[in-house]
Amino acid sequence: MTSVRERVRVLREAIARHDYRYYVLNDPEVPDAEYDRLAAELRALEAAHPELVTADSPTQRVSGEPSREFREVEHRVPMLSLDNAFADEDIVNFDRRVRERLEIDGEVDYNCEPKLDGLAVGLVYEDGELRVGATRGDGLRGEDVTANLRTLKSVPLRLQGKGYPRLLEARGEVFMTLKGFERMNAELEARGEKTFVNPRNAAAGALRQLDPRITATRPLEIYFYGIGAVEGGSFAGRHSELLAMLRGWGLRTSPEIRLERGVAGLLSYYRLIGERRPSLPYQIDGVVYKVDSLTQQRDLGFVARAPRWAIAHKFPAEEEMTTVRSVEWQVGRTGALTPVARLEPVFVGGVTVSNATLHNVDELHRKDVRAGDSVIIRRAGDVIPEVVRVIVERRPPDASPVVLPAKCPVCGSDVRRIEGEAVARCTGGLVCPAQRKESLKHFASRRAMDIEGLGDKIIDQLVDSGLVHDAADLYGLDAAKLATLERMGEKSASKLAAAIEMSKQTTLARFLFALGIPNVGEATAIALASHFRSLEALQGADADRVEEVPDIGPVVSTAVVEFFAESKNVDVLRRLVAAGIQWPVVGGADEVNQPLLGKTFVLTGTLPNLSRTDAEARIRRAGGKLSGSVSKKTSYVLAGENPGSKLEKARELNVPIIDEVEFKAMLRE
Ligand code: IVH
Repeated sequence: MTSVRERVRVLREAIARHDYRYYVLNDPEVPDAEYDRLAAELRALEAAHPELVTADSPTQRVSGEPSREFREVEHRVPMLSLDNAFADEDIVNFDRRVRERLEIDGEVDYNCEPKLDGLAVGLVYEDGELRVGATRGDGLRGEDVTANLRTLKSVPLRLQGKGYPRLLEARGEVFMTLKGFERMNAELEARGEKTFVNPRNAAAGALRQLDPRITATRPLEIYFYGIGAVEGGSFAGRHSELLAMLRGWGLRTSPEIRLERGVAGLLSYYRLIGERRPSLPYQIDGVVYKVDSLTQQRDLGFVARAPRWAIAHKFPAEEEMTTVRSVEWQVGRTGALTPVARLEPVFVGGVTVSNATLHNVDELHRKDVRAGDSVIIRRAGDVIPEVVRVIVERRPPDASPVVLPAKCPVCGSDVRRIEGEAVARCTGGLVCPAQRKESLKHFASRRAMDIEGLGDKIIDQLVDSGLVHDAADLYGLDAAKLATLERMGEKSASKLAAAIEMSKQTTLARFLFALGIPNVGEATAIALASHFRSLEALQGADADRVEEVPDIGPVVSTAVVEFFAESKNVDVLRRLVAAGIQWPVVGGADEVNQPLLGKTFVLTGTLPNLSRTDAEARIRRAGGKLSGSVSKKTSYVLAGENPGSKLEKARELNVPIIDEVEFKAMLRE
């Protein structure tokens, strides 16, 4: 019997150690199969000797019967909340208040932690053994969810090591990883059960399950970030040291925690975690700064329900709920109909969002978005906003499914959907004003003909007023005609006229791309230009010849041949060339002589000899590109007298700054 008792003890210790290595340190010592063998042996021994089963045995994580309600627990030390801040300025003020209260001149050390988006819990360990685990509740009283917390493998049932107080309440955040959340929702959906809106709600639902056997199947995790009640021991020193002690006793803490000095350190931590946020495996809604010295914490104390020594610096929420006003169909350049959800404006990911694309008919039907629906909108980083899902429970009874219209909402032509394709298209072609507008927007865009100042609103007006029907008409516009447009002053009109004039100097590749031939993107346009070298050669080619171009297959070749077979297109091409659009002969002397190929320039200030238009034209001719603003991608900033803020920006980003003399040298003039 002693040997059985001894073996049981050894097994329990080994399993607890492996749990710690695996769940807390993320550094398992043994393969899963070995762990499973140990667990199986322990289960077998306990089954044969039930008298040896103890509450802290790893086999007892799931224990007890479902309860009818949770017992209420009073927190020995209230569970407080945190003040929230959004702006950097709030943090500057927080740090100033801390220093003023502490009457210190130097900088304060802060412990910086991610603010996990989950639920706060307190776990009371007595003599190292987990006794009670409770939710925060109203801060004074919470619910006893011990049986549920025991099912989390990252919660030790017994503290390890030595030196822990007789009674220790460890506090932390229970959360669900994004992967765990998605997997769980997929399983629930497959079983026809209700899914959860976000990982936080899912974690709350799982933790407040009356049946711990269900909690045990849910992917819950915990990070500890502090302490509550302590008896039979005390903590002195620093919060960062306290966290290190918790870690030593087997209580998991976040690996993103850093110690920073002063307000500059806080703000740089905020940026760092902000950048990491999209790649973190769980959701966070900000960071928390805590004065590191426990003595200073005590001196600072509390106001109302929040400590003066800590603050939460929140990120703009990435997911928000709003309602769909309507679902409309947008007609693109190639006639493709895209469903777009028009939303009740909502602030999400740092911007106000009022539209979200639903991509195509299949996607619309998959998500089943209807007018009147409550939806979750997500905008993370610079990604375009999307509808994550509909909250079906909130759907108004009269909300009906959106159907693909039979006629184009803009021109009334038939809408056709090719079998097996996700896109439905308006068959109106150039008859359809929406398609014409979109083609013109593409034609004028930066990577195509690059007509600066010819924006969407102006194109809409030009088409609606009948001034412009197709791309060639653009070159019949002059300053006087442009000045007739709404909100177009004389100066802007002549600037735009100059930009249109300047766009005539281009390259064959840009021109081909600008035409908007279906399936011909920038790379294909470049490949076509360098293979055929002239517009005439490409126009005269049949599908077989086009397919001789590397990487071009039948889809593109058919599109190209069909495009040039259409007499309306040939007419536009002829008029464009007649208007004076020209490019250097591909592979000819002009093109070889393109010293600025692949370089992007930004102009600022007045140059001594060259006018702005002149300088721009030279950059283009030499193969360079122009941009209106300085970024990391800018190759050079060409600066003259009285430069603007672009110069500072260039210095900040270490972009080379050149003057007219250097510029001319680059042009080999
Ligand atoms: S400290 C007195 N640290 O945020 C200090 N809280 O808004 C109390 N939270 O209820 C909390 N991560 O649920 C602290 N690293 C962290 C946290 C954190 C998330 C949550 C916690 C708390 C709420 C306060």
